Amino acid sequence: MIPGWVMDYPTGSETGEYLAIDFGGTNLRTVRVTLLGDSKFTFKFDKFEIPADIRVGKSDDLWEFMAASLDTFVKQEFKDGVEGKLPLGFTFSYPASQDAINEGVLQRWTKGLDVDDVEGHDVVPLLQKAIDDKKTPVTVVALINDTTGTLVASKYTHPDTVMGLIFGTGVNGAYYDYASAIPKLEGKLPEDIAIEGTPMAINCEYGAFDNEHVSLPRTKYDIQIDNESPRPGQQAYEKMIAGYYLGEVLRLILLEWYGEGLVFEGQDISGLQTAFAMDTSYPSRIEENGENFVSTLFKESFNIDVNEIEANLIHDLCALIGTRASRLSICGVAAIIKKSGLTSGKLAADGSVFNKYPKFKERATTGLNDIFNWGGEPDTYPFQFFHAEDGSGVGAAVIACLTEKRIAAGKSVGTIQSKL
Ligand code: BGC
Repeated sequence: MIPGWVMDYPTGSETGEYLAIDFGGTNLRTVRVTLLGDSKFTFKFDKFEIPADIRVGKSDDLWEFMAASLDTFVKQEFKDGVEGKLPLGFTFSYPASQDAINEGVLQRWTKGLDVDDVEGHDVVPLLQKAIDDKKTPVTVVALINDTTGTLVASKYTHPDTVMGLIFGTGVNGAYYDYASAIPKLEGKLPEDIAIEGTPMAINCEYGAFDNEHVSLPRTKYDIQIDNESPRPGQQAYEKMIAGYYLGEVLRLILLEWYGEGLVFEGQDISGLQTAFAMDTSYPSRIEENGENFVSTLFKESFNIDVNEIEANLIHDLCALIGTRASRLSICGVAAIIKKSGLTSGKLAADGSVFNKYPKFKERATTGLNDIFNWGGEPDTYPFQFFHAEDGSGVGAAVIACLTEKRIAAGKSVGTIQSKL
């Protein structure tokens, strides 16, 4: 659990022009956000696909790619130039230890990324240097996890939001605790933060839950996915439920069934042999569109003929994969509810699995009720999922704004030891 150094609740009255970089999933986004106050905002963004060789390449190439994308965006958005420097919130959705809001040492890559020489380094100066090399007029003022951004962006528009949750390529959650209640910060807090009642956003990094494998029953498919991943033994919980992995679970099960002569008998299944040949859109589209769609999909994607019995089986399997993922996913949410002592509130959720996997929200809601036994109709439960505001863009902007305000007011934004 990582203190996120957001020590204010947004009021909705924040205003100003901000940039954000959103790096953490399949694409890179550059975002321009105008906070209008009154819980309103406008935003524009550009999306850049992250080339496969950058995802597993060298540190310099990654930052150069990011800075170049940002430079293109700034030139296009601010055709008449910029006075001074534009403040930027950097949404970096990987576990990064923070001693202050404007720094973050990458603990380890997740979600299949494997760029050399970044783990163990503070990523803010690496990005800032690449930006400065291009003479782009931008200063990175805050490093943000996507869950913290989701929490803050959603609180900007819905003040009763209590959690920011991502169910996407990876999984994670954030909530506000109190700075004085965080044992690992004992003795490290400046006086203005140590005072009772100072909120602190916590990036839970619960994708790493049960890395010791003592709580969650893993299937042999989970174990294989973990063993073949770039960081075996890490992100144990995430590897069972996140979007990056669900298509792979389906693929591994089908390969096993094929090996046992249960499906696709006598057919060439070479298209299915490549790791990650099916992303999560496969199980999710199959569940969504029904058995008939299975034959079309497998013919088009892998030139495999699927008979009716196989189609039914694959459809049921996808429902099972989705059900397991959604029910397991709420363990993290339930843990935050128990730890924080919250009794009600809105759960701001985002990510491809939440947004696209059929019935995810319903299954997760039922799962939460199975833990807490609220009873009654789902719409009366004290905690309700809702589709979050864009945390990585708007959230980054609101956090950058809150940070600027704190600094202007002479308040601290990190530990006593941190530079600021
Ligand atoms: C990362 C988290 C992130 C989550 C969702 C995980 O792999 O460790 O930092 O919040 O993915 O993007």
